[in-house]
Amino acid sequence: MKIAMIGTGYVGLVSGVCFSDFGHEVVCVDKDPRKIEMLERGEVPIYEPGLDTLMAKNVEAGRLTFTLDLAKAIDGAEAVFIAVGTPTRRGDGHADLTYVMAAAEEIARAAKDYVVVVTKSTVPVGTNAGVREAVAAANPALDFDVASNPEFLREGAAIDDFMKPDRVVVGVETERAAKVMEGIYRPLYLRDFPIVTTDLESAEMIKYAANAFLATKITFINEIAALCEKVGADVKQVSKGMGMDERIGNKFLHAGPGYGGSCFPKDTKALARIGQEHASPISIVETVIKVNEDTKRRMIGKLLDLCGGSFNGKTVAVLGVTFKPNTDDMRDAPSLTIVPALVGGGAKVRVVDPQGRREGEQLLPGVDWATDPYRAAEGADLLVILTEWNEFRALDLTQLAGSMATARMADLRNIYSPEDARAAGFTGYESVGRSGFESA
Ligand SMILES: NC(=O)c1ccc[n+]([C@@H]2O[C@H](COP(=O)([O-])OP(=O)(O)OC[C@H]3O[C@@H](n4cnc5c(N)ncnc54)[C@H](O)[C@@H]3O)[C@@H](O)[C@H]2O)c1
Repeated sequence: MKIAMIGTGYVGLVSGVCFSDFGHEVVCVDKDPRKIEMLERGEVPIYEPGLDTLMAKNVEAGRLTFTLDLAKAIDGAEAVFIAVGTPTRRGDGHADLTYVMAAAEEIARAAKDYVVVVTKSTVPVGTNAGVREAVAAANPALDFDVASNPEFLREGAAIDDFMKPDRVVVGVETERAAKVMEGIYRPLYLRDFPIVTTDLESAEMIKYAANAFLATKITFINEIAALCEKVGADVKQVSKGMGMDERIGNKFLHAGPGYGGSCFPKDTKALARIGQEHASPISIVETVIKVNEDTKRRMIGKLLDLCGGSFNGKTVAVLGVTFKPNTDDMRDAPSLTIVPALVGGGAKVRVVDPQGRREGEQLLPGVDWATDPYRAAEGADLLVILTEWNEFRALDLTQLAGSMATARMADLRNIYSPEDARAAGFTGYESVGRSGFESA
């Protein structure tokens, strides 16, 4: 089958590469010439493990190409996927649909034969119907259907998630569109991965409800963590004991500095907004958004305590700035709240991140970038672990403590334990949801 993919970001590029690996002929389109030039040179504009190899394999096989020319890409395509960004609209929390609607109109103007216009971007309920209207208005003679196919991949594990999904959700209105979508996902269907076929609105809602639920689960354990600190419980043990209950499950139950990333913050805000617009508020999600902000601020309080009440004149080493490991994505990362608070408070901040520097250099002004944790920690007053990259999981804590001016650690991902820190010579240690210590 021939497929066009509009948008070569974290979702569009991974989807395009994986569809070509299924054996389809895929043309990926982006309006950013820099990205298309890189892709044509065989370079991947984002960091996603395994993507370079899979992309090269399918380009080599002649199934995967890149272009700036949307009309060329959709010529002869049975389906065209919209995988452009839907960021938070400034001011009101609503998803900004400018890019989706612009793509829909471009498709309408370029398409000649029957095509299924598939929205992969995360969009509010009713958007696919809006896409249908926009395409029909821009090209009344065009024979087409719309389909909603929200994406559930996780950055950092995107290829595996796409190739081995828990489920694929497809919202359609016609048999004909259902057949096209079935053909596209046939390789997964044959391997017994479940395909959930729904109406357009339910498919759109599934995506927001799923993300809001996961954000709620994280926020729930973060609030329990705050209480654990007050009552002397250990949130890691609490998570373990809770997660063993199959009705609860152990995923997304790790306490930390608050959720961030390209999806949860904007999707929770958009869902809350959709609820308000329909006079059916999702109060739980509204609270989750607020508690998550409080959680990030609570972390700043911990750092302040470890710095004796002021950041002024302190040197702080920050390990990890991306919103999670194995990605270079910095969108809404907790580091964007925490690092500016350190810099603004007068600290000298040194940052290390295996992939975060390219994005982070612009987003985190006033910091120094170090190449490894040991250099960052030399002479520092505080070490902060903000992202749990594997590189930070087995550090020589004794060496770190020995090289610091005051050996204090804020382990905001609970990678180490108070005992580890004390034994290595740290004189102060705080984590999330567990008792820390501070020696005089
Ligand atoms: N990032 C994730 O982990 C993830 C997971 C699931 C769903 N989603 C959803 O997928 C969508 C895309 O997210 P992303 O992270 O890939 O975004 P992104 O910002 O990384 O990529 C979007 C790309 O679309 C391109 N683009 C915009 N308008 C275009 C047009 N008219 N023609 C051609 N190219 C155009 C941009 O240049 C950009 O390269 C969003 O709705 C997001 O919520 C993202």
